[in-house]
Amino acid sequence: MEATAKAHTNIALIKYWGKRNEELFLPMNSNLSITLDQFYTITSVQFCECLTADKFYLNDTLATEDETKKISEFLDLIRNLSGVKKYAVVDSTNKVPTAAGFASSASGFAALAAAATKALGMDIDEPTLSTIARRGSGSACRSIYGGYVEWKKGQLPDGTDSHAEQILPEEKWDLSILSVLLEPKQKKILSREGMKRSVETSPFYQGWLDTVDEDLEVAKQAINQRNFEMLGDVLERNAMKMHATTLGANPPFMYWQSATFDVMEKVQELRESGIHAYFTIDAGPNVKVLCQPKDEEYVREALMSVTSVQDVFTCHPGPGISYLPQTKRKTCC
Ligand code: DP6
Repeated sequence: MEATAKAHTNIALIKYWGKRNEELFLPMNSNLSITLDQFYTITSVQFCECLTADKFYLNDTLATEDETKKISEFLDLIRNLSGVKKYAVVDSTNKVPTAAGFASSASGFAALAAAATKALGMDIDEPTLSTIARRGSGSACRSIYGGYVEWKKGQLPDGTDSHAEQILPEEKWDLSILSVLLEPKQKKILSREGMKRSVETSPFYQGWLDTVDEDLEVAKQAINQRNFEMLGDVLERNAMKMHATTLGANPPFMYWQSATFDVMEKVQELRESGIHAYFTIDAGPNVKVLCQPKDEEYVREALMSVTSVQDVFTCHPGPGISYLPQTKRKTCC
């Protein structure tokens, strides 16, 4: 009753921003991401009769009560689906530079969903696994797949049709995704809270909803045609619109800090000099810059020259879920 799975993080080009059902993690809009090769989570799950509660180790350390509660609630969903009542020991290692603004929740819940369902011998297909991962964190449903991935919002009230699917495998189009690490300065407003406040109070949220489907169609067309400029234009526009909803919220908030602007300006400067580079930003100050592999070194150096930049991590499109042989991990009894 044990299994180990590996899942990679992903970065949204067309954002998931807003829920129509918070309990089921059903999104207001369909969205699109790239799974990244460099950052991932490996999770082992072992269900055992000897346990009287779930036990969660994160990066080799026993997790806090709050962290364990989140994992336990997620495992309850899987226990309900499988009919198995046993508790589990979960051993999770994040290969995500913790401060780099790459949330590990996407790779974390994708790996946990895969390892736990496999450990229980559940016979489920990838779309179903994606709906399960979604209940841990929305963006996790995209990390089941590699390459270019669309999360279709679905229509059914129970959420069974709200899952991700691959639109292009990772090896079919190489791009460079540079994750720019800035010095963290302000307290984070979590994406969960930020999207809720935007949906409930921002007059600009309707503008987001009115245009996001068109952005998604343009992005899919650009991927189909391997048209990098077309993709870059729409992903940058889409990120700006997501952040505009936060400015209209009550109370208003913003994820950017001055260093974020420095990087945005550098990217604009690069474009004026003829290099095709485009930025996107999630629920934090750090920036991800997309460019073509032939420009990757030049763009990286340009970004490193910005005073407030601490580091730049280079990624490419990466794989979906994989299962690993059992290694020596934390065991229960
Ligand atoms: C801005 O998936 O972290 O990164 O579903 O509440 O856990 P929850 O939110 P999460 O939100 C991601 C928001 C985003 C955009 C995106 O990844 O699409």
